[in-house]
Amino acid sequence: MLRNYSLRHHNTFGLDVLCNYACKVHDAGRLEVLFRDGYFGGERWLVLGGGSNVLFLEDYYDGLVLLIENKGITLSQDLGDEVVVSIAAGEEWTGFVQQMVKAGLGGVENLTLIPGKVGAAPMQNIGAYGVELKDVFHSLQAFDTQTGEIVEFLPEDCEFGYRNSVFKTLYRNRFIILGIDLRLKKNPVVKLDYGSIRQELTSMQADNPGIEEVSMAIEKIRRSKLPDPQHIGNAGSFFKNPIVHPAMFDLLKSEFPDMPGYHSDDGNTKLAAGWLIEKAGWKGFRKGDAGVYDKQALVLVNYGKATGADIWELALEIQYSVKTMFGITLEPEVNIIR
Ligand code: FAD
Ligand code: EPU
Repeated sequence: MLRNYSLRHHNTFGLDVLCNYACKVHDAGRLEVLFRDGYFGGERWLVLGGGSNVLFLEDYYDGLVLLIENKGITLSQDLGDEVVVSIAAGEEWTGFVQQMVKAGLGGVENLTLIPGKVGAAPMQNIGAYGVELKDVFHSLQAFDTQTGEIVEFLPEDCEFGYRNSVFKTLYRNRFIILGIDLRLKKNPVVKLDYGSIRQELTSMQADNPGIEEVSMAIEKIRRSKLPDPQHIGNAGSFFKNPIVHPAMFDLLKSEFPDMPGYHSDDGNTKLAAGWLIEKAGWKGFRKGDAGVYDKQALVLVNYGKATGADIWELALEIQYSVKTMFGITLEPEVNIIR
C-alpha cells in the first residue's frame, strides 16, 4: 500500500493530486485481499486506468486509489470468420490496437490512439470515427466489490449507449473490470464513412485501404486535432455531444443555419458540442493555465499549473454560455472526482 501517493502521472490533465492510499492491482487476488480486509465497506475508493478521462476537483483524494496493472493479451477462441481475443484490464488500449492491426485482425482500427487502459473502455463504451467498443464487444469479467466474486457480463448486461454503460449508471462504483473479450474479424471490412477518413486516405494515396492504412489515416487526423497529453494536459472531449429531438434541431437550424447535426442511433439528432463552444466564442480562450484548445473547442486543456478547480470553473462558464446562446445543456463526458 502506498501512502500519500501523488497521482500526477496517473491523470492526463497532469494535476498534482495526492491520495491517502494507492494500491497497484496486478491480479484479482489483490482485490480479494482488499475485500477481506474491509476496504470496500466504508472507505472511499476509486479505480484508475490511465487517468485520461477524469478530472479531480481537489488537490487531495481522501481514500484508496486502485491502479489497474494486470497484463495479458491472448487469442482465446476461434469462431471461424472471427476470433475472440481476451485482454487484461491493465493493458494500454493503444498498444493492443497496434498489435491487432499488425496481426491483420479487424474491428478496432478506427479506435486507434485512444489513450488509457483496456479496463476503462467499456465504462463509457469508447468510440471514434464511426466505431464504438460495443461493435466488437463479446464479454467482460469484473470483480464485484459488494460480494467479492468475479462476474461475467455479456453485451446485453452492459447497456451500452453513446458514451455510456451500466458501469456509469446502475453499477457506478461497484464493479472493477479485470478483463474484456472482443470479437475481431479475420477478413476485415474497413469502415470509412466518418468525417475525413476517405480524404486522408486519398492524400496518402491508399487506393485500396486495409486496416493498417485506416489506422494510419486516423492516427494522422487525431494528431492534427487533439493535443498530446504528454505535452498539454487534457482528457479528450470534455463534454458529450448533446442529443436532441429532430424538431429541436430544426428550430435551432432556423436560427443557426450552419449548425451541424448528425443522425443518432435512437432517431434523434446529435449536435457537435465543439461547434456550439466555438460559436459561443471560446475556442482558443485561456485564463491562467486553463484553456480551450485552439484546434478543437471540445477539449479543455491545462497549460501547466491549472488546478482541477480552475478547469472546472472554465467548464461551468462554457456550459452557462452555451445554455444562454442555444438553450442546450452540455453534460461532462469526463468523470468528475469531487
Ligand atoms: P480512467 O480515466 O483511468 O478512468 C475513467 C473512468 O473509468 C473512471 O470513472 C474510472 O474510475 C473508471 N475505470 C477505469 N478503469 C476501470 C476498471 N478497470 N474497472 C472499473 N472502472 C474503471 N474517449 C473516447 O471514447 N473516444 C475518443 O476518441 C477519445 N479520445 C481521447 C483523446 C485524448 C487526447 C484523451 C486524453 C482522451 C480521449 N478519450 C476518448 C477519453 C479516454 O481516453 C477514454 O475514456 C479511455 O477509455 C479512458 O481510459 P483510462 O484508462 O485512462 O480511464
Ligand atoms: N467542430 C467545430 N469546432 C471545433 C470542433 C468541432 O465546429 O472546434 C465541429 C465540426 O463541424 C466537426 C464536428 O464538430 O465536423 C465534429 O468534430 P470531430 O469530428 O472532431 O468530433 P467531435 O464530435 O468533436 C467526437 C468524439 C471524440 C472522437 C471524435 C471522432 C465525443 C464527445 N467526442 O468528437 O471522442 O474522437 O468524435 O469520432 O463524442 C473523446 O471522447 O474524448 C473524444 C475525443
